Amino acid sequence: MTDRLRHLTTLEGLDRTALVRLLDRAEAIRHDGAPRDLLAGRTVLNLFFEHSTRTRTSFELAAKRLGADVVNFDVALSSTNKGESLLDTLHTLEAMRLDALVVRHKENGTPELLARHATSAVAVVNAGDGQRAHPTQGLLDALTIRQQRPDFENLAVVICGDIRHSRVARSDVHALAALGVGEIRLCAPPALQPDPAEFPGCRIGEDFDTALRGADVAIMLRIQKERIVDAALPDDGAYFARYGLDARRLALARPGCLVMHPGPINRGIEIADAVADGPQSRILAQVANGVFVRMAVLAELLGR
Ligand code: NCD
Repeated sequence: MTDRLRHLTTLEGLDRTALVRLLDRAEAIRHDGAPRDLLAGRTVLNLFFEHSTRTRTSFELAAKRLGADVVNFDVALSSTNKGESLLDTLHTLEAMRLDALVVRHKENGTPELLARHATSAVAVVNAGDGQRAHPTQGLLDALTIRQQRPDFENLAVVICGDIRHSRVARSDVHALAALGVGEIRLCAPPALQPDPAEFPGCRIGEDFDTALRGADVAIMLRIQKERIVDAALPDDGAYFARYGLDARRLALARPGCLVMHPGPINRGIEIADAVADGPQSRILAQVANGVFVRMAVLAELLGR
């Protein structure tokens, strides 16, 4: 029996048992729903310092579907713009009695910083910090794969795109490696490849056709221009020609290869319309699973 989680800041270091328990809980919620009053009287605050469509909305829906009160803190209109520090913001919000703080921030390590300095029993949930971790995305991606291909040890999973700046790639690899995925291949142009030391056990290459051959799952990533300072990047057309997933390339993978993308997708840059909207796409299943996974995480952290 793994200890109950207190915060969820990363998947790194979580063992198979803890991951499987969260995935099983999310799957059970998908099938049977969850008590609408499980988190009645609890308060969840969304504190997003970066843009978000899926993650913020699904955390809000997840909390509401479990009966919690939800506050969406509006960073743009807040006193953080009057020079209030992150920790003063934390203590101010804590004084209003929160049970969970869902945080997204551009700086690596912000969720840990908040968890360390919290003076109350608030649970900190990482909704993405810098390029470091996006644990609920890692969980929902693992769940999406497991629903179609539970035989993880036989799978070859390719992650292609801006691996260097991707918190999604890091959390996906933490989850998939701990769950025993047979082969994880990372594919990126040289300027967007990560330090291999960060991805032990993964094959890293720059030729997408090679990486795709025989793959069971292809996870496509956006180029995170907001995090790139001065790398020499190909223009969109040249990038698509080498790293875009179109029908011709997808045919190199195993028949039925699952196509995934955390969103937001940039059509015609990393993925073609016909593939994003095609029969092998699990992109909207990922979105749906995001709500179940976030319900499972909030239930695990806050349930009595
Ligand atoms: C990702 C993120 O913000 O890390 N999106 C998401 O949460 N679904 C990926 C991205 O922004 O490219």
